[in-house]
Amino acid sequence: MSTSPRKIILGAFVPGVLTGSAWRLPEAPADTFLDFDHYRYIAEKLEAGRFHALFFNDSVKVDLDPGLEKGPNGVRWDPLVLAPALALVTRHIGLIATGSTTYNEPYNLARKYASLDHISKGRAGWNLVTSLGGGENFNRADHTGHDDRHARAEEFYDVVSGLWDSWGDDAFVQDKASGTWLDLDKLHVLDHQGKHFQVKGPLNVARPIQGHPVIAQAGASDAGIRLGARVGELIFTAQQTVEESLAFYGQIKSEAASFGRSADELLVLPGISPVVGKTFAEAQAKYDRLQELLDPVSFLSRISRFASLAYDLSELPFDEVVPLPPEQFSTDSHPSRQKLVYDLIRRERPTVRQLFNKLTAGGHRVLIGTPESIADDLQHWFEAGAADGFNVMFSGLHSGIDDFVDGVVPELQRRGLFQQEYPGSTLRENLGLPYRRNRHG
Ligand SMILES: Cc1cc2nc3c(=O)[nH]c(=O)nc-3n(C[C@H](O)[C@H](O)[C@H](O)COP(=O)(O)O)c2cc1C
Repeated sequence: MSTSPRKIILGAFVPGVLTGSAWRLPEAPADTFLDFDHYRYIAEKLEAGRFHALFFNDSVKVDLDPGLEKGPNGVRWDPLVLAPALALVTRHIGLIATGSTTYNEPYNLARKYASLDHISKGRAGWNLVTSLGGGENFNRADHTGHDDRHARAEEFYDVVSGLWDSWGDDAFVQDKASGTWLDLDKLHVLDHQGKHFQVKGPLNVARPIQGHPVIAQAGASDAGIRLGARVGELIFTAQQTVEESLAFYGQIKSEAASFGRSADELLVLPGISPVVGKTFAEAQAKYDRLQELLDPVSFLSRISRFASLAYDLSELPFDEVVPLPPEQFSTDSHPSRQKLVYDLIRRERPTVRQLFNKLTAGGHRVLIGTPESIADDLQHWFEAGAADGFNVMFSGLHSGIDDFVDGVVPELQRRGLFQQEYPGSTLRENLGLPYRRNRHG
C-alpha cells in the first residue's frame, strides 16, 4: 500500500478513444463515432471506473489524406454539443471540451462553457487550443501562424475569464417579495479593448458553478508552455521517457511560479495508450492484432504530416533505420510533436517498423502489459514526480476500456493510488483545484 496522500488523476480521450485500427476489431462497433449510445457507454463505464474526466479532442477541419479512408480520423461531433448531452446521462465525471481560440470569438465560447458548467452542475472544462489547422474554413487562405495564434490565445483567455466574472456569485437574488430578480450592484461590465478583441460584456449567462470551468491546455513550445503556466490547470502532454517528463513537469511548474501560481494549481497529465492482457503474451497478442489491422502506408504518411517531419516515413523502406532528422528544424503547426518524434529517432535509432510500433498513439506512450505491470509503470511516473496523472487513449472499444477499468483501475485502487469514490461534486473539487473567486470580490 502506498502511503502517498496524493492520488493519480485519470482522464480519458474521447472520441480519440480508439487508436488506429481498433474500429476494425470484430468486437468493436464500427459506427462508434456515429451513434450517441456508444459515447454514453464510454461515459458510463469510465464514471463507474471513477475517472476524473472525459476529454473531447477536436479540430475544425478534415485532413484530406490517405488516412481518411482507413479509419475514424476526420469526422467528429462538436464537443460543445456532445458534452451537454453526456452531462445528462452522468453525475460525477468531468466533461472537458476542446475549444479553439483561433477560430472562435471569446464571447461565444465564454457563453457555451458557462452554460455547460450550469447544465452539468459544475463539471465543465475547456481544453484551450490554438488549433493545428483550419484557416481555410474561416475565411483565410491558410492556418494562422504560431506566434499570432498564441498572442490571440493569451488575450482570448483574458476576455473569456473576464466575461465569466460578469456577475457576482449572488447577483441573482430572485426576491419575490420585493420583486428584485437581480442585484445590479453585482454586475461587472468588462469593457475590454485590446489588440485582437473589443468586448463590452457582460456575459448573458450567470457566473459558472465552479467560478470558472477548469482550464486544460497542451502547449509544449515556449509560447505554449508560457500560456499553460499562466492559465492551465490540467496540462496535457506527450512524453516518451520519465526523464523528459520530469524536465517538462519541473519547467512548467516553475514557470507557473513566475506567474504567482503554486505548483499544485496545475496538474500535469502525460498521455498513455494501454493494451491490457491477463498475461504479457495476451497483451502482446492484442497489440499485434491491432497492428496487423493498421494500414502502415496511410498511418505513416499521416503521422509524418501530423508531426511535421522533414520526410514522409511511408516512403522509406520498412526495415531500414530511419535517417537522422535535420539539426535545424521548425514548423508553424506542431513544433513540440515534431521535436518528440525527432528526439525519439535520435535516441533509439529505430527502423521504420519500430517507429511505426512506437507511434501508434500519435506520440503518446504505448503500454503493453498486465494490470500489475501497467500499474507499476504509472506508479513509477507518479511517484517520481513526472506526472500528476494520465490521459488515457484506449486501444479498443469496448474491450480496451473494459480491460483498463476492470483491470488497471482496481489495481491502482488496491495500492491506494486511485480514488474509490468521487470526493466532491464539481470537477474542481474532484481534481483538488480551488474554486475560482470572482476578481471583483
Ligand atoms: C494530449 C493532447 C491533446 C491535444 N488535443 C488537441 C485538440 O483536441 N485539438 C487541437 O487543436 N490541439 C490539440 N493538441 C495540441 C495542443 O493544443 C498544442 O497545439 C500542441 O501540443 C502544440 O503545442 P505548441 O504549439 O506549444 O507546440 C493536443 C495536444 C496534446 C498533448
